[in-house]
Amino acid sequence: MAVRKIKDNIFSVGANHWDRKLFDEIIPLPDGTSYNAYLILGSKKTALIDTVDPTTENQLFENLKEFKDLKIDYVVSNHAEQDHSGTIPKILGLFPSAKVVTNKKCKELLMDLLHIAEDKFIEVQDNETLSLGDKTFQFIFTPWVHWPETMSTYLIEDKILFSCDFFGSHLATSELFVEDKPRVYEAAKRYYAEIMMPFRNFIKGNIQKLEKIDIEMIAPSHGPIYKEPSFIIDAYRDWVSEVVKNEVLIPYVSMHGSTKLIVDHLIDKFTEKGIKVQPFNMTEMDIGELAINAVDAATIIIATPTVLTGPHPLAAFTTIFLNAIKPKTKFVGIITSFEWGGITADWIKSHLQNLKGEFLAPILIKGLPKNSDISTLDSLADEIVEKHKTLGIL
Ligand code: FEO
Repeated sequence: MAVRKIKDNIFSVGANHWDRKLFDEIIPLPDGTSYNAYLILGSKKTALIDTVDPTTENQLFENLKEFKDLKIDYVVSNHAEQDHSGTIPKILGLFPSAKVVTNKKCKELLMDLLHIAEDKFIEVQDNETLSLGDKTFQFIFTPWVHWPETMSTYLIEDKILFSCDFFGSHLATSELFVEDKPRVYEAAKRYYAEIMMPFRNFIKGNIQKLEKIDIEMIAPSHGPIYKEPSFIIDAYRDWVSEVVKNEVLIPYVSMHGSTKLIVDHLIDKFTEKGIKVQPFNMTEMDIGELAINAVDAATIIIATPTVLTGPHPLAAFTTIFLNAIKPKTKFVGIITSFEWGGITADWIKSHLQNLKGEFLAPILIKGLPKNSDISTLDSLADEIVEKHKTLGIL
């Protein structure tokens, strides 16, 4: 990614990872991602805010070569995860007098993860400032966006918030600023769903903290820069709120067609009743799409055959994944197709304890669904209709 000027003496110098396919080895990246790093040339000091994933380090190094006689005094590390910090050791090798500026917790993590010597750090406190001459940083601790040490760096004179993962989007693009809002919204929601959603309550507090600051631009470390901060802040407010949508998600797997019949019946039933329904065939789904939809769906129903004594392994994986990302789902249903017993429904429920929604009575269907089973499915659909009405979303 070429050097791009954001404002006078403020440059984007990071990397695009156009063909990265998976993040955290789990979330598909249909649009790749980026690792943004920012170079700030103050009248007295120069700072680099974050670095890049080591797999793309050459893009950063080539970009820095564009600046004649560059001397970096500070490397601000907003977050210790290696997609932003992993190239710090090599930057310190290229600029031996540079110091890493970060908070105590991040310093400890960087020492553990990257073996950076303790004397290379300048430790800062929440709201502390650091002068570059005509430009001043204010460090704002924003824990749990994404790890406990995460912080944002506010450039006071230019009113730019460098937020690292916070407000980021999985999007490799040559556009410096947000141009295609729907595309960025989707990429940011994919990012939020996996990385941020488990920490929803912390994020609420961090958004409130930022309300006290006059922000003209948000420059995250993934995806394009927001010239209109309210676009992404309002999206986050919506996602972290308790508001859910009139939607049912049905992740399912079917080995011989019985579970598929169940799901198809429910799809028709919910459609007739005016509830948006989205099935996800676990054998081929993009689990990031499931996560995006789980951000605000009112109801999730997991449907799986019993394999040996428990859920199909794909259903077990999906269950553990949903439990990890902790959506604000209000109602949870479990349906299992079986032939000779098992503990599928109990297993799924016991592995979804991070979900604070109401668990509806599980439905166990022996073999191919019979008329009595169809009636039971209809009752479940009717129950969900009533529950959505109670929430005022139907
Ligand atoms: Fe983009 Fe938590 O690292």
